[in-house]
Amino acid sequence: MALWDGRFETGAAAETWEFGASLPVDCELYQEDIAGSRAHAAMLAAQGIISEEDAAQIKTGLDSIEADIATGSFDFDIRDEDIHMAVEAELIRRVGEPGARLHTGRSRNDQVATDTRLGAKKLARALMEDVLELQRSLLSAAEQHPGVILPGCTHLQHAQPVLLSHHLLAYFWMLSRDFQRLNAAYDAANRSPLGSAALAGTGYPIDRRMTAYELGFADVIPNSLDAVSDRDFLLDLSYAGSVCAMHLSRLAEEIVLWSSPEFGYLTLSDAYATGSSIMPQKKNPDFAELVRGKTGRVYGNLMQLLVTMKGLPLAYNKDLQEDKEGMFDTARTLSMCLSVMSGMITTAQFNADAMRAACSKGYLAATDAADYLVRKGMAFRDAHAVVGRLVLLCEHRGCELSDLSLADLRGECELFADDIAGALDLDRVVAARTSEGGTAPTAVEHQMRLARTDIVMG
Ligand code: ARG
Repeated sequence: MALWDGRFETGAAAETWEFGASLPVDCELYQEDIAGSRAHAAMLAAQGIISEEDAAQIKTGLDSIEADIATGSFDFDIRDEDIHMAVEAELIRRVGEPGARLHTGRSRNDQVATDTRLGAKKLARALMEDVLELQRSLLSAAEQHPGVILPGCTHLQHAQPVLLSHHLLAYFWMLSRDFQRLNAAYDAANRSPLGSAALAGTGYPIDRRMTAYELGFADVIPNSLDAVSDRDFLLDLSYAGSVCAMHLSRLAEEIVLWSSPEFGYLTLSDAYATGSSIMPQKKNPDFAELVRGKTGRVYGNLMQLLVTMKGLPLAYNKDLQEDKEGMFDTARTLSMCLSVMSGMITTAQFNADAMRAACSKGYLAATDAADYLVRKGMAFRDAHAVVGRLVLLCEHRGCELSDLSLADLRGECELFADDIAGALDLDRVVAARTSEGGTAPTAVEHQMRLARTDIVMG
């Protein structure tokens, strides 16, 4: 028996029960579904569409169903198809005719859109909290390592030295944008489709603004066809999640590299590493790798929904039922990744000595040597060529720029003088980059103040 089977002569094929059902997925939306039904019933009564007594009975029934689902004592039946009919059928069993009046002026199409929007809002908010937690971890790691210098890279080749705090804060700002994107997804979800009914609205004198207000929506969706078939808010959430996962994957990749013996910049806490079943010496960055790996499934969810939506004619189509699994999976996956990353960063040991030692390789001060010549009056392009030739000399000799004698330097350019050694000193090279957003300690201090404000403002 289904709530819709009046015009059917035979029951559905048994294999379609499970195939057609979304209950295993949307049962997670039971609170949203019941909240929507409560709001709808209260509105129907306020508008004189059902009696106050019926609304009171509906509310009592819904309360008891919610309590039973919460305690796990509610028996879901796959033949109810989805959470909407599971709750409604049970309501009718519990309170009788008043329960059968609940669906007046409503369809599962506006109901599912309402529930999904409420669910998306909740997930977006929770993810924003998780993002903030990781931002806090990155900021405090940055604060705890002032003055630590490592080789900054381009093309994964040593480029110019940077502060570790500067490097960590780069991820902080990625996450700050993720926070904004999630907030935008929250806003996109924050409009009520309820009252759009199946697709065309309803002739009952409903008050859509009342249910929207009751459910915490900022506004109502102005077009009923759009309201029941729009899933843009889920795409927004899925995209925001994908970009965030990409950021986490980049951070994970650096953790994997940095914890390798070739780098040795970072030692993971035992709490965030694993061993090998055969090689006793191994300490593997499994969880960083898994964060990197899980990015694929988060992207997959975005692709799946984009493809599901493509080519759907107005208005509701059953294809839309495929929207929720990815939403929950993205949220659950990303939430775990954010939390694990936060723990990993908080407990990791950053090896300042290894970072500093790495700075002695790769001519990190080459740009500064050219800048030195520019300060002495040479054009930058000419200075670049001079230092390029000095680097070539070092390559041939197997040494670093700092190993060259003043005579070597002057052999290429007469402008070099005694003060060159100071100009190429690692700390001075870093301290020189005082431009806004640069890596000098003073600039990074300023950046940290901005980061602290960013966290407070959200
Ligand atoms: N279970 C459906 C979904 O998740 C609810 C709406 C079904 N509506 C319909 N007319 N079949 O999308």
